[in-house]
Amino acid sequence: MLSPKIHADRRARLAAAVNGPILLMGSGDRPRNLPMSTVAFRQDSSFLYFTGCTHSGAALTIVDGRSTLYLPEPADDDALWHGASRTIAELGETLGFERVRPSGTLEADVADLDDIATIAIPDLAQTQRASQMTNCPLRFGQDNGDDRLISAIIQMRRLLSEAELEEMRATAQITRTAHLAAMAATRPGAHEREIAAAFQHEVSRAGLSLAYPSIVTVRGEVLHNFEYVNTLSDGQLLLLDGGAEAASGYATDVTRTWPVSGRFSDRQRAAYDAVLAAQLASIELVRAGTRYRDVHTKSSHILATFLSDEGLLRCDADAAVETGAHALFFPHGVGHLIGLDVHDLENFGDRAAYPAGRQRSTQFGTGYLRLDLDLEPGMVVTVEPGFYVVPAILDDPQLRAQFSSLVDFERAAEWAGFGGIRIEDDVAVTSGDPEVLTEAIPKAPDELCAAVGS
Ligand code: GLY
Ligand code: MN
Ligand code: MN
Repeated sequence: MLSPKIHADRRARLAAAVNGPILLMGSGDRPRNLPMSTVAFRQDSSFLYFTGCTHSGAALTIVDGRSTLYLPEPADDDALWHGASRTIAELGETLGFERVRPSGTLEADVADLDDIATIAIPDLAQTQRASQMTNCPLRFGQDNGDDRLISAIIQMRRLLSEAELEEMRATAQITRTAHLAAMAATRPGAHEREIAAAFQHEVSRAGLSLAYPSIVTVRGEVLHNFEYVNTLSDGQLLLLDGGAEAASGYATDVTRTWPVSGRFSDRQRAAYDAVLAAQLASIELVRAGTRYRDVHTKSSHILATFLSDEGLLRCDADAAVETGAHALFFPHGVGHLIGLDVHDLENFGDRAAYPAGRQRSTQFGTGYLRLDLDLEPGMVVTVEPGFYVVPAILDDPQLRAQFSSLVDFERAAEWAGFGGIRIEDDVAVTSGDPEVLTEAIPKAPDELCAAVGS
């Protein structure tokens, strides 16, 4: 866990960057059906970053450099239903706050402040309170709040310190154990649910939670496939995209794809080798000063060469990458920022990931590239190329017409039912070589196959 001093230093930096009073709301509890039955609580990541506070319904003000933490006071019968709780003063002290006030006093406390900077958070009710207190229209993911505050948060959160990287390294160990357990549980006749459970078991056993719902599927071509409905068969590939989240909130995001039987067919092995070659070459580029789009293009080029060699494309790799033809088989971006959020800072739209003067490509596939910064030491990104045979793409009349001279759709039809392969790691940019935080999770074919059903 990060120390209270780290959070206090962050607040001091934030106060120095934003000239004026700051209000940050924490997330509240969200009913799942009844008021007492709530969805699993997750603190807003910016609030967590500046407070370390994982209690629901909290808020923070920073006025003239002085921080005040607002916490809900326990109800009279809380001790009966939830056990004895500490006072808000005790909780605040543990988090390193000198001033702690009951949440209910927040509106009155800020009533006389002008020009309060705030942001929208994923909690609608708390965002609405912030909107009313600041007279600022806020909508999560759209009208995100005060420009100076958002810029300062992005600048700070985007570069991870050594202490934050340590959190991610430790979490990557648990993610490794979970991936190994999922590989070991894989056999023909097992169900996707079983493999998902084997993965989650290791994460829960370590006292952690999932950073996002795991993707565990033999239909890896469905990019965000959160259903577990299939029984595994000999000859299929299983794709598992899953990661643990640290108690401090830092995410990991790792994909491995392995044969259900522990043996690749020749065709599967050729495609796997191409994806792995693309991933390794892209990771090599994760260095200070590299434009992230070039990391994407490197993978695109290597995959396009494979597609051309297999006769799936009627053009060479250069022509494919220029026209976007390769993207019919690699239809997403090669990665994104990762930190406290699995797609870090994407609640602020493209603001954290596309610098001024760079916009998303209008080309099919490359338009989904989530990141186009010049990389700096401290940034952590994913590198996750893939190869997919997607009926929704290959049967699409518009794409077929657009790419008729570049893609051999008849040859592609011979690959129907192949599924998808993605290989994903989390990579820290350093002043030297890239640091692959998740590299201990097997991906070399022999090591990977040895772990299946073991
Ligand atoms: N797990 C979602 C992603 O890889 O971006
Ligand atoms: Mn990812
Ligand atoms: Mn992923």
